[in-house]
Amino acid sequence: MSLYGKVALVTGAGRGIGRALATGLAESGVRVGCVARSQDELSRTVQLVASRGGSALAVNADLGDPRTVPDIVHRVTAELGSPDILINNAATVEPLGHSTDMTPDTWNAAFRLNVITPAALSAALLPRMTAAGWGRIVNVSSGIVARPETMIGGNAYAATKAALEAHTLNLATELTGTGVTVNVYRPGSVDTAMQALIRRTGGGRLDAATYTRFVRSHEEGKLISAEDSALSLIARLTDDATGQVWDVHDSR
Ligand SMILES: NC(=O)c1ccc[n+]([C@@H]2O[C@H](COP(=O)([O-])OP(=O)(O)OC[C@H]3O[C@@H](n4cnc5c(N)ncnc54)[C@H](OP(=O)(O)O)[C@@H]3O)[C@@H](O)[C@H]2O)c1
Repeated sequence: MSLYGKVALVTGAGRGIGRALATGLAESGVRVGCVARSQDELSRTVQLVASRGGSALAVNADLGDPRTVPDIVHRVTAELGSPDILINNAATVEPLGHSTDMTPDTWNAAFRLNVITPAALSAALLPRMTAAGWGRIVNVSSGIVARPETMIGGNAYAATKAALEAHTLNLATELTGTGVTVNVYRPGSVDTAMQALIRRTGGGRLDAATYTRFVRSHEEGKLISAEDSALSLIARLTDDATGQVWDVHDSR
């Protein structure tokens, strides 16, 4: 099957993996609603999509507040059509640091952006997807879930991504037989602003071994490009597989 003519909503599409997802989907003939906070970065994504002959809409919103969800869905639906594809990609790696330095407020902020808003977006889009008998939800996670003990200083990030994966697999089973698939995507170590932020601010907040690993993998050229990671996800959207944990390193 082809994705041509579908509508996608991609969160965190202002830069990094989200921008690469938006441009890659547009090249497959998908109209893309792009959500992030930075208007200038969103505008650049929309320009890139247009330069490839595609169609994208910038939706400026703070996904750290799940109450933004109805307005986002309303705008994308009104201007592009009801989304058939949802990629929950936006996330924060913060708070980084010792677990004793974290507060209920910082835990809350991480869970709101990384878990609660993705679940709320899915809930808002599911009625139309199930009525149509076709839909794709992909929640972008991290390899940290397989090895949470390897990112010391990233306790909240590990916990939120583990929660996101459990939510995803549970929802996939709930939706069995509806035509809507729900899967996790672990994008690999990708050369984006999130990695740069960790290298810039992680010293002293991550433990020394963890921080050194992030710095070295960049220095040694081990990070993959956002475009390569995005293509690996997009290639799976035509499958009917559901309830899976996709990893960029699993060859297809
Ligand atoms: N890069 C890696 O090596 C790596 C590894 C494993 C998993 N991942 C996962 O891959 C996904 C994308 O990461 P990335 O590296 O591409 O990150 P990135 O370069 O930092 O981009 C994150 C995107 O999310 C948006 N965003 C962040 N907070 C937001 C908020 N409160 N409301 C709306 N949008 C928000 C950002 O825009 P604004 O700041 O303008 O809002 C930006 O467009 C994340 O889920 C991340 O956990 C990345």
